[in-house]
Amino acid sequence: MIDSTKLPKVAFGEMNDVHNEEVVLINGLESLLHDNDITGIENQLDRIFQHTIEHFQNEQRHMQEVGFPAYIMHKTEHDRVLNEMQLTVMDWRTRKDNEILNTYFFSTIPAWLAQHIASMDTITAQFICMHKGC
Ligand SMILES: [Fe+2]
Ligand SMILES: [Fe+2]
Repeated sequence: MIDSTKLPKVAFGEMNDVHNEEVVLINGLESLLHDNDITGIENQLDRIFQHTIEHFQNEQRHMQEVGFPAYIMHKTEHDRVLNEMQLTVMDWRTRKDNEILNTYFFSTIPAWLAQHIASMDTITAQFICMHKGC
């Protein structure tokens, strides 16, 4: 279970809301994995992936609207994680080993999310606030 209260907060509130939504969706995977509910896991993975796409696209739209100088760097990191998430899900489908999803969504992703929010998202949010207000 990821504790969303421990995630770093950024200056632009809407981004925090999206991060919290993401954590709720990922946490929804825990009991499904425990029960080995394959259909439930598949559906939750679709929700998580779709939400992650929207989360990243929303930040990228704001960055473009305010002309954020490090847009490419931030987008490249988003693209890398989306690709990694897809490959992880494909690996799980092939090997049918729930430990793959447990490790990825409850160890790799929480560590990445905390680090990404504390760095790229924090700077991006400050820049958005400077141009759009908070
Ligand atoms: Fe974010
Ligand atoms: Fe981001």
